Amino acid sequence: MSQRAPNSMLTDSPAEPPAWRHRNLLDVDILSREELMIVLDNADAMREVLARPVKRVPTLRGTTIATLFYEPSTRTRASFEVAGKVLGADVVNLSPSGSSIEKGESLLDTVRTLRAIGVDILVMRHWQSGAPYLVAKHIDTPLINAGDGWHAHPTQALLDLYTLRSRLGDLQRKKIVIVGDITHSRVARSDVWALTTMGAQVVLCGPPTLLPIDMRQGCNKAGGLPPVTVELDFDRAIEGADAVMALRLQKERQEAGLLPSLREYSRLYQVTEGRLRRAKPGAIVMHPGPMNKGVEISQSVARSPSSVIDEQVHNGVAVRMAVLYLLAQRPE
Ligand code: CP
Repeated sequence: MSQRAPNSMLTDSPAEPPAWRHRNLLDVDILSREELMIVLDNADAMREVLARPVKRVPTLRGTTIATLFYEPSTRTRASFEVAGKVLGADVVNLSPSGSSIEKGESLLDTVRTLRAIGVDILVMRHWQSGAPYLVAKHIDTPLINAGDGWHAHPTQALLDLYTLRSRLGDLQRKKIVIVGDITHSRVARSDVWALTTMGAQVVLCGPPTLLPIDMRQGCNKAGGLPPVTVELDFDRAIEGADAVMALRLQKERQEAGLLPSLREYSRLYQVTEGRLRRAKPGAIVMHPGPMNKGVEISQSVARSPSSVIDEQVHNGVAVRMAVLYLLAQRPE
């Protein structure tokens, strides 16, 4: 059977359900290479929909999606909303402010209420690592983790993977450098799983205080973590890279004593035009956003032809359409 969403899904005809066996998307660590390919191939079909003059298909007509965000978001929340609406779904957005969460309603009571209202797919962001796993234990509504604490951000990893594949082709042995605050980054954790499953060589780079101890000691699959290389010196790490991903540096890290100063951090770890010349010719620069321009990435690099940051955001809509479509094909 074809792994790609058939053209019939883009019309009024019912679609062939693809080979997808997961009710939820909590992280990408459990996805095989084949399953990652299913998402990417479906995202290709969704990009075709997004390129049409009228961006609207009836694929998820009659489906209600709720986004429940306990943390701020621009890209993830807006792109899930757009993705759902392009597929013809109804989308309800909830956040603590203005909902009964403000009156003290618990997370589980909130999601049970949404299920009782008739929500078919729940997209949830929570500041607490593991919160979506707790919810998934208690409700059978398909659940997408839109970011939990420092733990995981699976749809960001999928859109990063999609962007990398569309720019670099097969990722086997491609060198991808992720630089910045790795310890507190759910994006880095999910990216590491997705990229290594696709055969990329991942290099994590940052000051020792912002690198998790288990990763500094060397990761391997036997230890439950994917194989990555750790390099503290960014000038060495970026040598021959096919892609460089800068992560947002939160200013609280300096206040918490994890950095001597922002100026020192930028001097050693900022993605600059000078450093980019050490990468492979044509190397791309990525950032999950939001950016602190002038801290982890220079203004000129962020807006240079090497930057695919806007493309990542655009691809995020297609990838989230693909994920919504796949989860709507509920397993028996
Ligand atoms: N990359 C990302 O998750 O951005 P938002 O916080 O704006 O959703």
